[in-house]
Amino acid sequence: MLAPGFRASSRIFTWFLMASLLGIISLIVLVVWVIGYHGNPYSETANQKYSSEVVKKPINPHPYRFTMAHEDKCERDGNDVFLVIIVHTAHDHVTQRQAIRATWANESNTPGVEIKTLFALGTTDQQDLQREVEKEDAIFGDIIQENFLDSYKNLTLKAVMTLKWFLDFCPNAAYLMKIDDDTYVNLDNLIATLLGMEQKSQLVLGNIHTKDKPIRKVENKWYLSRYSFLRESLPSFASGGSGYVISGDIVRSLYETSLRTKYIYLEDVFIGMCLETLGITPVHNGGFLCCQRVDIDDRYPCAYQHHITVHGLSALGMSVLSRAERECVL
Ligand SMILES: *[C@@H]1O[C@H](CO)[C@@H](O)[C@H](O)[C@H]1NC(C)=O
Ligand SMILES: *[C@@H]1O[C@H](CO)[C@@H](O)[C@H](O)[C@H]1NC(C)=O
Repeated sequence: MLAPGFRASSRIFTWFLMASLLGIISLIVLVVWVIGYHGNPYSETANQKYSSEVVKKPINPHPYRFTMAHEDKCERDGNDVFLVIIVHTAHDHVTQRQAIRATWANESNTPGVEIKTLFALGTTDQQDLQREVEKEDAIFGDIIQENFLDSYKNLTLKAVMTLKWFLDFCPNAAYLMKIDDDTYVNLDNLIATLLGMEQKSQLVLGNIHTKDKPIRKVENKWYLSRYSFLRESLPSFASGGSGYVISGDIVRSLYETSLRTKYIYLEDVFIGMCLETLGITPVHNGGFLCCQRVDIDDRYPCAYQHHITVHGLSALGMSVLSRAERECVL
């Protein structure tokens, strides 16, 4: 049996312990709340900047910043710009970028309307590659970069970066297009198609997949675990490889929706999720050639002259298609 004096002091001690514990817990809660609120770049400032009620607590924030931006690429916020093309590339794909610059994106043969073409990168921890890219950019002035690690699983970050560049630096352009660096764009066909369409707003145009099933085989390139994507069918989406065009009016709502959409690394499916949330149905055009390995046969260069995009090309394939575009009679 303990002495009464000791019992009393032990009770005081317990009270003291509980009070301090309570104090510490409240402190932690306060600190977490403060950090959660003010450490989050999209909570208040972004709400003012993108004056939207929906962006409150993004589940998929995009806290990256441009390290190369070419913010002056578009004058007057892109009022005169018809189309911004952002080519998703990788640091060491110099040959692909050169092929694009020399063929369809060559500014000396841009047809009629104002087009801006830029190459998008994340960062690399290989310093020499980064220096090469900076040298290349000093010559051509067409590379943009954000400070997330460039990797296959981060391609969705690049898609969001693409939307963000448009909003920040060229928001009045009529259209935004995303493609990969092994894709040939027949600009004449693309422009004619866009000008000929009745639908000018709320438009996403590309090679549309509908009701595809998520691939559950771990070894597959497009594997989606049930954890990352529970549903048994994918939303309608425009195939990322053959590229897709977005009308300028919906880029902002797409960007904002992306911050509230659970991240999946398949960028085209991710954009499809955002479109579904917004109630926008992407529009199919078979001219965006999709989903096959294209071996351009030099003997039949005219085989692809009616297409808008051709995906899966080497630099050589690009030059064959470029010659075809000049020489084949439509
Ligand atoms: C673009 O085309 C012009 C004229 O054909 C050519 O002189 C120039 O080298 C090309 N630009 C690039 C980057 O290849
Ligand atoms: C994606 O980028 C972030 C930010 O740089 C990085 O922390 C993360 O490791 C990258 N993820 C992958 C899978 O490369």
